Amino acid sequence: MSTILDGKKIAEMRLELLKEKIEEQGLYPRLATVIAGSDPASQMYVLMKHKACERVGIGSVGIELSGETPTQGVLDAVNRLNRDPDINGILVQLPLPRQVETKRVVEAVRPEKDVDGYHPVSLGLLFSGEPRFAPCTPKGIMTLLSEYRIVTEGARAVVIGRSIDVGRPMSALLTNADATVTVCHSRTKNLAEETRRADILISAIGRAHFVTADMVKPGAVVIDVGINQLDGKLVGDVDFAHVKEIASFITPVPGGVGPMTIATLMENTCTAAEEQACRTV
Ligand SMILES: NC(=O)c1ccc[n+]([C@@H]2O[C@H](COP(=O)([O-])OP(=O)(O)OC[C@H]3O[C@@H](n4cnc5c(N)ncnc54)[C@H](OP(=O)(O)O)[C@@H]3O)[C@@H](O)[C@H]2O)c1
Repeated sequence: MSTILDGKKIAEMRLELLKEKIEEQGLYPRLATVIAGSDPASQMYVLMKHKACERVGIGSVGIELSGETPTQGVLDAVNRLNRDPDINGILVQLPLPRQVETKRVVEAVRPEKDVDGYHPVSLGLLFSGEPRFAPCTPKGIMTLLSEYRIVTEGARAVVIGRSIDVGRPMSALLTNADATVTVCHSRTKNLAEETRRADILISAIGRAHFVTADMVKPGAVVIDVGINQLDGKLVGDVDFAHVKEIASFITPVPGGVGPMTIATLMENTCTAAEEQACRTV
């Protein structure tokens, strides 16, 4: 029987600490979100981010663009926020509508304001071992591991998924934390053989209950990034009911990685505000 890694509780605790820090330092960080179109999931994520801002004392501005906005329209919005000295962090909610060139938009965000950590400069710093803003989901997972005193040094970590927002930066953060990392994806041969070797197994695939108990080494730490709908319920990539019987630690879905992602975005925004304040002094 495993210990539940309670992301909700840890995120609450960190948001409370951040609120105190913002008050003490007299900072007034400001985050701008940009959303194009009316995808309900994206709208819900943006709303949750604004609510978290309000909770900790971060000002937030929401730019809402129509789903028909061309690339240039999104770039114009980003550039206005880049120039605005009152905005410390910019988050472009992905995915953008099909006609928008996402890469150009991501690369347009000024690296100093790239609190989502997707700009090539942010990713380059992360992979060079000196991250400034690491993407919020993998960074939040590292925080969760650290809060539960889970040792990464020398651990064998397996990450399933190689996306730029989760899998790849997760592998870099674990490498930076001295784990020995294997990244698996849809072309990996004998996936279960790889996953069974993991002391720390992280699944970021997006397939309900894909990771079954026979894929997990007894005593492993299992982190479930997936968000999937199954029979009208939100579930992760991991078959939680069975895997929890053999893992040492496991994240639930919901209430595991998701809240840590939002708390990390708040922390990144605060860091951006601190850095920008130093530069203007
Ligand atoms: N909780 C949070 O805060 C949070 C944040 C971000 C994402 N998510 C969730 O995490 C999941 C992954 O997100 P993402 O953005 O990384 O997704 P993504 O861009 O679709 O990437 C999925 C990855 O999974 C791999 N994959 C797919 N099927 C596989 C299989 N059968 N065996 C092995 N690997 C397989 C893909 O391999 P290939 O590269 O070979 O195609 C790809 O690398 C989604 O459910 C998403 O909603 C949660």
